[in-house]
Amino acid sequence: MRISVIGCGYLGAVHAACMAKLGHDVIGIDVDERKIGELQAGRAPFFEPGLPELLEEVLATGRLKFSSSMADAKGAQVHFLCVGTPQRKGEYAADMRYVDAAFLALLDSLEPGNVVAGKSTVPVGTAARLADDLADCHPEAILAWNPEFLREGFAVKDTLTPDRFVYGVPEGAAGIAATAALDEVYYTPLSMGTRRLTADYATAELVKAAANSFLATKISFINAMAEVCEVTGADVTVLADAIGMDERIGRKFLNAGVGFGGGCLPKDIRAFMARAGELGANQALTFLREVDDINVRRRMRVVELTRTLVGGSLLGKRITVLGAAFKPNSDDVRDSPALSIAAQLQLQGADVTVTDPEAIEGARRRFPELSYEADLETAMAQADALLLLTEWDEYRAISPEMAGEIVSAKNLLDGRNVMEPAAWRSAGWNYKGIGRP
Ligand code: UGA
Repeated sequence: MRISVIGCGYLGAVHAACMAKLGHDVIGIDVDERKIGELQAGRAPFFEPGLPELLEEVLATGRLKFSSSMADAKGAQVHFLCVGTPQRKGEYAADMRYVDAAFLALLDSLEPGNVVAGKSTVPVGTAARLADDLADCHPEAILAWNPEFLREGFAVKDTLTPDRFVYGVPEGAAGIAATAALDEVYYTPLSMGTRRLTADYATAELVKAAANSFLATKISFINAMAEVCEVTGADVTVLADAIGMDERIGRKFLNAGVGFGGGCLPKDIRAFMARAGELGANQALTFLREVDDINVRRRMRVVELTRTLVGGSLLGKRITVLGAAFKPNSDDVRDSPALSIAAQLQLQGADVTVTDPEAIEGARRRFPELSYEADLETAMAQADALLLLTEWDEYRAISPEMAGEIVSAKNLLDGRNVMEPAAWRSAGWNYKGIGRP
């Protein structure tokens, strides 16, 4: 099939490459010419395992091209909208200007029978609004909403073999035609057994908001339990293992620590609350306010724990923060708990050095006031405390004996509960986890 992918950020660049991998002819379009130049040259503009290799493979087939001109979307049968919906400045609601602008710009390139498939995470009601606009100017084109569930770090795998596809489609013949078009796009994963659900627009949009809200709630639930563990001397990691053995609960997303960050979970739960308020259903989601508060509290708690760890005052203390990305295998620093903790420590007088295998460049752009050091050993040298805030494999593999020889004081705050307390303690370290004795 001929496919256009509008917006080549995280979602769009991966989607475009994966659609070409599935055998389609794909044009990826973005207004950012620098990004388009990078992608066309086979370079991923962000760190995502497997993406550079995939780009190289599909660009060589000639099935994938990139362009900064929306006119190049003409001729595609399915157009995927993959632009961002960030949080509006000073508000909870999503900023819809990129979706609206991309949709408007695409209208000129549409032909009868085309399917416009939205993938961006949008406030419920967006698809119905865009479908109305489409009906006015292109009555023979069809709007579908096909939310994306990929995780950064696993984006290629999640796109090629997702858990499920969700299609939000209109009723009647148009819905049948849109479903058939999307089934053709996803023929390979569908034929391998990936489940597919069709729904109305609102349900499809809500599936995405609900999924991210549930994940955020799970993380904040275990972090709330960590708070209780901290005042009772209990161990939240054992608690998570034990409740996670109940299949109804499940162990995934029950890792207590510095909380969730990134470009999705935090802003999606806020946008969901804002939208529910507009619809008069704000009470239904007031619990998400608490989910958000618990999450923000974790960051402040780590600052306090660090203060205690270094003897009661942060002034002039050399703190090494291991990890800047919001999670490992990503260079994304949007709403990163690690960086917000690092910045707060620095503000309170600590001398902070941040290291990360991939995210230093992005971190420096956001927090130029912090010091960065790419080399792990140099970063750790003379530290009064190490703070593990992003659980990269290379940090999990640090030897307590080796680290003990280069730091000033053997203090470790394990913000992700991934280190072995006994090994660090027996090497003479003062080990502190989150919600563990
Ligand atoms: C999330 C969802 O998991 C995806 O399904 C969704 O498609 C995506 O948002 C999106 O809306 O685009 P992502 O932001 O890549 O994906 O990251 P997650 O793996 O969900 O992690 C989010 C945050 O939660 C990270 O900061 C991570 O460190 C934290 N986390 C995760 C915990 O603190 N504890 C856990 O047990 C799990």
